[in-house]
Amino acid sequence: MRTVLTVENLKVEYSTKRGKVKAVRDVSVELFEGETLAVMGESGSGKTTFALAILKLLPLSGKISSGRILYRKNGNEYDVSSMSEKEIKEKIRWKEIAMVFQAAQNSFNPLMKIWDHIKDTVKDHNIRMDKNTLLSKSEELLKLLQLEPKRVLNAYPHELSGGMKQRTLIALSLILDPSILILDEPTTALDILTQRNILELLKNIKKKMNLSMILISHDLAIAAELADRVATFYAGVLIEIGSVFDVFYNPKHPYTKGLINSVPTVSRDKQLYSIPGSPPDLVFLPSGCKFHPRCEYKVDRCENEEPRLEYVESDHYVACWRWREL
Ligand SMILES: Nc1ncnc2c1ncn2[C@@H]1O[C@H](COP(=O)(O)OP(=O)(O)OP(=O)(O)O)[C@@H](O)[C@H]1O
Ligand SMILES: [Mg+2]
Repeated sequence: MRTVLTVENLKVEYSTKRGKVKAVRDVSVELFEGETLAVMGESGSGKTTFALAILKLLPLSGKISSGRILYRKNGNEYDVSSMSEKEIKEKIRWKEIAMVFQAAQNSFNPLMKIWDHIKDTVKDHNIRMDKNTLLSKSEELLKLLQLEPKRVLNAYPHELSGGMKQRTLIALSLILDPSILILDEPTTALDILTQRNILELLKNIKKKMNLSMILISHDLAIAAELADRVATFYAGVLIEIGSVFDVFYNPKHPYTKGLINSVPTVSRDKQLYSIPGSPPDLVFLPSGCKFHPRCEYKVDRCENEEPRLEYVESDHYVACWRWREL
């Protein structure tokens, strides 16, 4: 399988009054052509920061303190991490790697019609596209997302439902035929039928456009359905990664196990599990494994040394000192 994106030893910190928030700490991961990688983990575990860093869209207080981001296309390799803002804007952002932002449905300007939003986005990204091409491309994509193009383009945001706004945002992200699409919580805050509908559309689009996707989602069911591989984030690090099948049916990290057992199921009458404690303070991190204060399996070593990802099987890796015994 060909790699389209390589993230190497990525570290991101935010400067705050309390000190440095270590939001992403030494994350390395590859994205393969045509695959969907789901990223899961509790609120505050660094998922959005990881995505924003790939596109170099961190707020001013956020800095990539080390690591490389390599994008590959047609045998060429681009080191995004060393590109200037101008170069990224010209070559990468939106054209090669696009993103649907978390909770962006609320960021539409209520006074602007959707068509004006589309024109603005294109202008913001320094994209030269004549009006007719942009219009026909927008119509084509809106249709692909099962929206009525004319109606949507002429609508104000409040005239669209949450699901329609989200589909519009997905269409907008695809306007320059990117190879990689990052979706940050694309179905959160939508009702279950709307979620299903968006999921089906994403599956279709992915196939049609041969996209590689990074899907950030709290919702494990969505990850399971759409992804080929899943990665679990905890306190800014990747603690487990593997195929959906391996990770969901044979999770090795106590935290991933906890996440999976805390999902309610309609059909199974099973006791719901909740992971005790809360995520650590990312300014003053605990020693050793960052999960140890919450882990029922911890031993002395877990308090002193942070485990790194270890090979489990095929493409399954876990960062836990005790995975073999559990
Ligand atoms: N602009 C910022 N300034 C300071 N700290 C920030 C900033 N943005 C995020 N953080 C902190 O960085 C950490 C990671 O945040 P991030 O938004 O990446 O998490 P997340 O996994 O996407 O969470 P959620 O599931 O709630 O979206 C958190 O501790 C958060 O408080
Ligand atoms: Mg987030």
